[in-house]
Amino acid sequence: MSHATRPDPAELAKLPVEGPSFDELRAKLDPVVARYPARAGAMLPVLWVVQRARGGWLHPQSIREVADYLHVPQAHVEGVITFYTMFKDHPVGREVVMVCKTLSCRLRGAQDVIDALEDRYGIEMGGTTADRRFTIETGECLGLCDMAPCMLVGKDRFGDLTPESAVKHLEERR
Ligand code: FES
Repeated sequence: MSHATRPDPAELAKLPVEGPSFDELRAKLDPVVARYPARAGAMLPVLWVVQRARGGWLHPQSIREVADYLHVPQAHVEGVITFYTMFKDHPVGREVVMVCKTLSCRLRGAQDVIDALEDRYGIEMGGTTADRRFTIETGECLGLCDMAPCMLVGKDRFGDLTPESAVKHLEERR
């Protein structure tokens, strides 16, 4: 199966912004920025704080607010978000599942794991389960090649996966 289609940015902009206002977030962000010689240097931790506080993704309004706050162009923030897989520019499930699709995992059955998860939840990679519990994506090497094929679920690592064990790990977290 192919990856799920990326949502239309114009539609994303219509969604409500979850969580605290940006003014409220400044209390957490100002000490972070103060540790860097240049405001723009704090981009990654600032985005992380904002994403976690606001529903696990970066709403177009959040992106604009971060750009203003760090005194950088909005395109710069968007470039960072699209480069790092840990940042999301669209709504995601309560936990993000990342299945490795790089060579070691591929050679040890990653595609069968991916197929099993797509079948079980009726979604394509990049999609979110109907109950919004999981967003399931593929990613590049997770640095866990010795336990290939593997996946991350939030911060937890699972290795030596089979199609059955991958589904079981997720079902046990529901
Ligand atoms: S190739 Fe999958 S963890 Fe390295």
